[in-house]
Amino acid sequence: MAQNLPSNKTIFSGLQPSGNLHIGNYLGAIKQWVRLQENNTALFCVVDQHAITVPYEPKELQNRILDAAAMYLAAGVNPEKSIIFVQSHVAAHTELAWLLSTVTPYGNVTRMTQFKDKSKKLSSKDAISLALFSYPVLMAADILLYNTNVVPVGEDQVQHIELARDIAERFNKQYGPVLTMPEAYIPQETARIMSLTDPKKKMSKSDGEKTYIALTDTAEVIRKKIASAVTDTDPIFSFKKSGPAVQNLLAIYKAFSEKEDQDIEKAFEGKGYKDFKESLAEVIITALSPIQEKYKTLREDDTDLRFTLGRGMHRAQQIANSTLHQVKEVMGLL
Ligand code: AMP
Ligand code: TRP
Repeated sequence: MAQNLPSNKTIFSGLQPSGNLHIGNYLGAIKQWVRLQENNTALFCVVDQHAITVPYEPKELQNRILDAAAMYLAAGVNPEKSIIFVQSHVAAHTELAWLLSTVTPYGNVTRMTQFKDKSKKLSSKDAISLALFSYPVLMAADILLYNTNVVPVGEDQVQHIELARDIAERFNKQYGPVLTMPEAYIPQETARIMSLTDPKKKMSKSDGEKTYIALTDTAEVIRKKIASAVTDTDPIFSFKKSGPAVQNLLAIYKAFSEKEDQDIEKAFEGKGYKDFKESLAEVIITALSPIQEKYKTLREDDTDLRFTLGRGMHRAQQIANSTLHQVKEVMGLL
C-alpha cells in the first residue's frame, strides 16, 4: 500500500522519552516528520505521560525528555515550522483522555496487542498499571486535540490509530461533529526496521545493545555492531535472492544513502558480505554524524532547547484548549 506524501494537512506524532533512540525510531518516525513538516502544519510531541505507564527512573526522566526533544531538533525538525512540545506541559491531553474514555468501549481497549506485549514483559502483576491499559485513550487524545489529519508512525502503532478513529467516530455520533478523523501514515520501506541479531524481531531498545544502533552510537560502535549483524547462510551477497536479515540491512542502506536498488546491486552483487557491511557502516556514520554534532551542542546548554519547548507549549495550548472547550460544551459540562 503505497501512500502519497500528504500536503496541506495537520500532522501529529510523538515519541516516548524512554531512553536511547535508535535508527528504527529515526527512519520509521523522525526522518518522516522532517519531510512532512515542509508542506503541512505539524506538531511533534515528547509523550512523557506515556513513558510513565511502565516502571521508570524518576531521576532520569527530565534528562530523557530533553534528550528526546534535542534529538527531534538535531534530526531536522524545525521549530520555526513545527510545534515541538512536551505532552505534560499541555494539561488538555489528560483532561481530554478522561472525557474520551467515557465513549470508549472497554472491550475495544482489551484487544490492544501492545498492552498485551508490554504487560508480559513486566516483572509482576502489580506493575501492570491502569495507565498502561488506558494508554491508547491518552494517545487518541493527543491526536484528536489538534484536529489532526495524518499521524506518521511505525506499523506497530496502527492499531492505536484505528482505536483513535473509532473513538472519534463514536464521540461525533453521540455529541455532534467536533473531532477530526485521523489517518495513519506509514512509509513502507522503513515501517519496520528489524533487529540486527534477529530479523524476525523489530529493532527495539529493550532487546540489548547489539540488536540496535542508537542515534548516539560512536563510529567505532556502529562499525562493530554492523560487522556482527546476522546475514544469510549463503556467503555471497545477492540482491534478489537475499533473505530477511540481508533485506533488513538493505532497507537501512537504502534509507540512509537514498541510493537506488540498481546502484547498490551493481556495487555489491556477487561479493562477500564484508564489503557490503563495511559500506553500510560508513553510510550510517555519514548520515548520523551531523545529527550527533547538533545534538551534542543542544544538550551542552539547555537554554535554547527549553525556550523552544516553552514556545511550543504556548502554541499547542491554544489549539488544544479550543478543542477541549468545544468537547466540554457538547458534552454538557458547565
Ligand atoms: P517506540 O520507541 O517503540 O516507542 O517507537 C517510537 C516510534 O518509532 C513509533 O512511531 C514506532 O512505530 C517507531 N519505531 C520504533 N521501532 C521501530 C522500528 N524497529 N522500525 C520502524 N519504526 C520503529
Ligand atoms: N504510542 C506511540 C509509540 O509508542 C507514541 C505516541 C503517543 C504517539 N501519542 C502519540 C504517536 C500520538 C503518534 C501520535 O510510539
